[in-house]
Amino acid sequence: MCGIVGYVGSSKSVEVLLGGLRRLEYRGYDSAGIAVIDDAGLMNTRKRAGKLQVLVDELDRSPLGNGGTGIGHTRWATHGGPNDANAHPHLGDDGKLALIHNGIIENFAELKAELLASHPDTVFTSETDTEVAAILVGIEYQRTGDLAEALRQVVSRLHGAFTLLAMHQDAPGVVVGARRNSPLVIGLGDGENFLGSDVAAFVEHTRRAVAVGQDQIVTIGADSVSVTDFDGIPVEVTEFEVSWDASAAEKGGWSSFMAKEISEEPEAIAKTLLGRVVDGGIKLSELDGIGDDALLAINRVVILGCGTAAYSGMLGKYAIEKWARIPVDVELSHEFRYRDPVIDGNTLVVSISQSGETMDTLMAVKYAIEAGARTLSICNTQGATIARESDAVIYTHAGPEVAVASTKAFVAQVAALYLFGLHLARVRGTLSSPEIAGLAAELQALPDQLAIVLEQHDAIKQLAGWMTDTRSVLFLGRHAGYPVALEGALKLKELAYIHAEGFAAGELKHGPIALIEAGQPVFVIVPSPRAKDSLHKKVVSNIQEIRARGARILAIAEQGDAAVLPYADVVIPIPLASTLFEPLLAVAPLQIFAMELASAKGLDVDQPRNLAKSVTVE
Ligand code: AGP
Repeated sequence: MCGIVGYVGSSKSVEVLLGGLRRLEYRGYDSAGIAVIDDAGLMNTRKRAGKLQVLVDELDRSPLGNGGTGIGHTRWATHGGPNDANAHPHLGDDGKLALIHNGIIENFAELKAELLASHPDTVFTSETDTEVAAILVGIEYQRTGDLAEALRQVVSRLHGAFTLLAMHQDAPGVVVGARRNSPLVIGLGDGENFLGSDVAAFVEHTRRAVAVGQDQIVTIGADSVSVTDFDGIPVEVTEFEVSWDASAAEKGGWSSFMAKEISEEPEAIAKTLLGRVVDGGIKLSELDGIGDDALLAINRVVILGCGTAAYSGMLGKYAIEKWARIPVDVELSHEFRYRDPVIDGNTLVVSISQSGETMDTLMAVKYAIEAGARTLSICNTQGATIARESDAVIYTHAGPEVAVASTKAFVAQVAALYLFGLHLARVRGTLSSPEIAGLAAELQALPDQLAIVLEQHDAIKQLAGWMTDTRSVLFLGRHAGYPVALEGALKLKELAYIHAEGFAAGELKHGPIALIEAGQPVFVIVPSPRAKDSLHKKVVSNIQEIRARGARILAIAEQGDAAVLPYADVVIPIPLASTLFEPLLAVAPLQIFAMELASAKGLDVDQPRNLAKSVTVE
């Protein structure tokens, strides 16, 4: 998704903007551009299709004048292809106004027609919705002479999702912004202020931040920040401290952000649990927004998410149903609100989102709120839109997840969901305190167990190296192993661009076994044989069935599980863990395998093709 940076201060705005855009590259984009008001007071704009380095090289060859006011943008193409003309910023008011945009203006065609009717001499240089907004704001600025007012006049006419930043040559030292259904945060500096699509845009300069709310306008100067609603009425804002530091958003010596983030998984779980397991009990102070009485009135839980977040939600379903004895449905956010779901005030809708900005999930949460449901968000990004829309939020403290492929956020989401499941079990009296303490202890044992699994990185890398010519891989799991199979398949698809499919192992005989032919690689997540409810025997039978048909078995199995050895070509051992906790260990080898296979194929594991870290359009 698009990255946005705004700056007003005494530093050289070009350096600040490019540094911010560099930290936002992980969001996925296909062009980049900046606009600055130079020290001669003139608007200067430079924009190029391609990676940020293309723009940087251009600026090295032909520098921009360097004043203290600027805006910068990385674009993920929606309306109009990824080329120089469609790159942002776009101009209005005869090139004196520059504007950048993240989102989609759904009624831009009507606005464009109205504009051509009222101003027939208007010349469009791009196919974008954004240019229409830039021209409209330029017209309003000519009329009002006030940039914030000009923006207010225009945004009230826009439908869809947008974060807009604008600046004008005749108003040096000012950048204005507006947001609806798309992220915008303010960075508060000393003699300088920042705007960004997320805190990564300015965290190297300041960790003091303010999240701009829905339908709000922000105006920043070097020493001033003001926020109003779309009617111009001032609104209260809340400052928060960004817990990440600039180095956390760097690779820290790893070959990729993804490798770094997989290595951080034990810490991500530990930090998510920190302070929330006290004397064997669960302490979720964030749930004050949904007190025990409100939770007791809940008769159904619906978990929402997309992609990896949905798979963590499936594990949450197994745990919450088992521990709290309440029906739980897991829904893909983008399907949920279009099927006229039956939800009401007794439904708790739990949204899961690493970015907290996924439009599909945000719109589903808004639908649930309108239907009267209580809402809880599991989110990894402080102050994100979905978190702020919800009645309560349980933040996962996984730290910045920069790689597009989600890894440490997944395990942290599951840990947070398990905490909630135990909390709900206490409230509903379905588990005793000793039972809760026992399960909480198993949660707290996971970081050390996962660290043991990660020690096998090199062996898994070697396995991946042997499989670079693989064209298709299947993944099988049962019960809590099934979401792991789905997640393993997704990782391989999105990183190595290989066809991969996850199945519930019991589903094999109902069709998919027809896919099995000699040499077909199949990962199998094998449950622990020790658990009394274990499906171990059934999964070993599934392995025999596909082995008999020539499949190449790559088993992820508990250390010492001898039953698997005769049938598996490769066994990746994991420490002993009970049924619901094993998935957090079994997923890591699949993440590593996908990453190393993609690396062996020379692919970019941090920014896979066609993908964005946060999908902020529906
Ligand atoms: C995961 O590897 C993918 N990048 C994708 O499925 C992602 O999990 C999904 O888009 C949800 O993102 P979110 O957690 O930020 O809402």
